[in-house]
Amino acid sequence: MEARHLEITSQTGLLGVLGHPVGHSLSPRMHNAALRAQGVDMIYVAFDVPPERLTYAVEGLRALGIKGANITVPHKERVVNLLDSVDPLAARIGAVNTVVNDNGRLCGHNTDVAGFLSALRSVKPDGARGLRCLVAGAGGAARAIVAALSEDEAAEIWVHNRTSRRAQTLCDSAAAWGRSLCKAVADNDLGARVQAADLLVNATSVGLAASVKESAFPVDIVDSHHVVMDVVYGPRPTALVAAARARGAVALDGREMLIMQAAISYRLWTGLQPPIETMRKSLDIEER
Ligand code: ATR
Repeated sequence: MEARHLEITSQTGLLGVLGHPVGHSLSPRMHNAALRAQGVDMIYVAFDVPPERLTYAVEGLRALGIKGANITVPHKERVVNLLDSVDPLAARIGAVNTVVNDNGRLCGHNTDVAGFLSALRSVKPDGARGLRCLVAGAGGAARAIVAALSEDEAAEIWVHNRTSRRAQTLCDSAAAWGRSLCKAVADNDLGARVQAADLLVNATSVGLAASVKESAFPVDIVDSHHVVMDVVYGPRPTALVAAARARGAVALDGREMLIMQAAISYRLWTGLQPPIETMRKSLDIEER
């Protein structure tokens, strides 16, 4: 699809992302590419909003008539109480990553959940239904992923985290999200759970720095029966994805999840079918 050149006028609508820090966000690139490709008279910018300014920033969305926003780290949970309404899924998991401004009423959604499931279906068409899943991590990303696995009726969800108390807290929350059984995994049980699992998900920031060689899982026991997903992404396969593929597993990094959550947000704001290929291609330009 050919990108059209759009003039910014007094009619141009504004979209953006609120985060802190936000300078590394790839969302402006994906959304502006999509908006240009479809000739939508909107632009998307990044707002660096420190935690103590979040309330003002959300009021600013209303005051300035900003059409919609993504909410990212560290605001996804706190923003819930600042909105006029929150859709049932986002309310259940207590995290919002997308806000739609409907004539001054701000409604919160969570597209991370559907984004993860859509990425999973690109490598596992039946999704998580009936699978035994091991998630490493217990932060915001892990929370959305555990919610997604639960929505999709995974048979079992095991959560391992460096700080074990947080894994237990996440499992306690997950008890209310669906029918899947969610259990915290102790360090000494991790190897056995990796072997028993069908799907391994790294939802920690381990691997974010290319220099970090450690892994959230013992990769030497990954084999071809595993599907491995890494929330981390970069220009090249992440260390976990490369190691898992070398051992015969199907593996996917966080790029597809990023694209799919963005595509779902875009549809909420514009009502249009998102140009996913355009969004995907916009990430191909190496920026680091
Ligand atoms: P996000 O919202 O992106 O998930 P977060 O809430 O800061 O970010 O969570 C980061 C996750 O990565 C946590 O599960 C964290 O483990 P702790 O709860 O013990 O902090 C995990 N993590 C970060 N660095 C890690 C490391 N070097 N080894 C293992 N886990 C790590």
